[in-house]
Amino acid sequence: MKITIIGAGYVGLTTATSLAYLGHQVLSFDKDTSKIESLKKQISPIHEIGMNELLMLTKNNITFSSIFITEMTEAEVFLIAVGTPPMANGDANIGYVESAAREVAQLLKQGQRCTFVIKSTVPIGTNQRVKQIVNMTLRERNIECHVTFASNPEFLRESRALYDTFFPDRIVIGSDDTEAIDILSRMYKHLLNQDFQPPSFLTRPDDYKLPALITTDLVSAEIIKYAANAFLATKISFINEIAGLCEKIGADVTEIARGIGQDHRIGKYFLNAGPGWGGSCFPKDTSAILAVARNYNYDMPIITAARKVNNRQRMHIIERLQDKIKVIRGRNICILGLAFKPNTDDVRDSPAIDVIKILQERGAHIIAHDPIAINNARKEFNETNIDFKENAEQAAEHADALIILTEWPEYNELNWYKVAKLMKTPIVIDARNQLSPEKAAEAGLDYTGIGR
Ligand code: UGA
Repeated sequence: MKITIIGAGYVGLTTATSLAYLGHQVLSFDKDTSKIESLKKQISPIHEIGMNELLMLTKNNITFSSIFITEMTEAEVFLIAVGTPPMANGDANIGYVESAAREVAQLLKQGQRCTFVIKSTVPIGTNQRVKQIVNMTLRERNIECHVTFASNPEFLRESRALYDTFFPDRIVIGSDDTEAIDILSRMYKHLLNQDFQPPSFLTRPDDYKLPALITTDLVSAEIIKYAANAFLATKISFINEIAGLCEKIGADVTEIARGIGQDHRIGKYFLNAGPGWGGSCFPKDTSAILAVARNYNYDMPIITAARKVNNRQRMHIIERLQDKIKVIRGRNICILGLAFKPNTDDVRDSPAIDVIKILQERGAHIIAHDPIAINNARKEFNETNIDFKENAEQAAEHADALIILTEWPEYNELNWYKVAKLMKTPIVIDARNQLSPEKAAEAGLDYTGIGR
């Protein structure tokens, strides 16, 4: 099948390479010329496990372009996966989605049959708006085409993007047109049947069940995406709230998570207490669903509270530190981890960035380490009050306290005895509950976790 994908960010690029791997002819378009030049050399512009290998494996099935070219228009499916950044009122900006739809409709040929698919996370009604734009553009051009429309939200996680795409839990297709649903079911046939050999860097889990195909209407598909992210964000805020109570009464939140997570109705995932969620999705999407609700004069107190708890959690890390060192001004604070989660260099809405900014405002000097996110983090700060170190032990030298803000696996492997000796005072705030409190004590650390 010929597929054109507009936007080569996390979602667009992962979808493009995965569909190319499954045998489709894919054209990946992005206006960012440097991104496309890099992709033409099979170098991934995003840090994602397996992406460079997959670019090599699929190079005969995929074409990258930063200008609209005629080959693009031959596609049966036009998949829109451009950004929907937040606006000042919290709503998602669909300007890029609208212009992508308009530009593609400008290129369609008389009599062409194709399906427009929105994969970007978009506010309610956007699919309807795209339909209107495409039909209007065709009318202005005085041509007739047979165009169907579908919403196909994406559920991949950064750092596990290819795994989530090749082994999804479900595929959601929203459309009021059975033809569009048939075409997308055909496009995803190999994922739905799992009748492909995964690339060598991925293993299909032994207990993996075939993904559910959920077909529904356009608006419900749009809401499914927001509801999924809002639910997961709320689940994390819930355990963070319980963590606060655990600290008051002397319980261990990791034990609570273990105890409740075994109940299948609750599930064990997304119950890790920490500095609160970050990244480019949960903050933006919880804000966007509230913006939608406001338009209908509808109150959503649970999602509002989830956001409030999340903001409080950043301050809670500062309070844990203050309990230990009392005065922040004039202290050297070592930060381990800058990315919003491990195995990514993405620092968008990262808890580490928020915590560092508060500490700087309060007069601390920051020495920070991250295995891969330093370059992105640098852009967030002026360099006067922060030292970036390539080595975690070096970052800990002479520190008055150390905070783990991203649970990089390599921090488990650190020689914590040595770290304790290098520090001025061996105070560790483990904001991700990554270390075992017993081992930390053995290493000579003055250890504080979250909710334990
Ligand atoms: C999230 C969703 O998990 C994906 O399903 C969705 O497709 C994606 O948003 C999106 O909308 O594009 P992502 O933001 O990449 O994916 O990362 P997550 O793994 O969900 O983590 C989000 C944040 O929650 C991170 O800051 C992470 O550290 C935090 N988190 C996660 C916790 O604090 N505790 C947990 O138990 C789990």
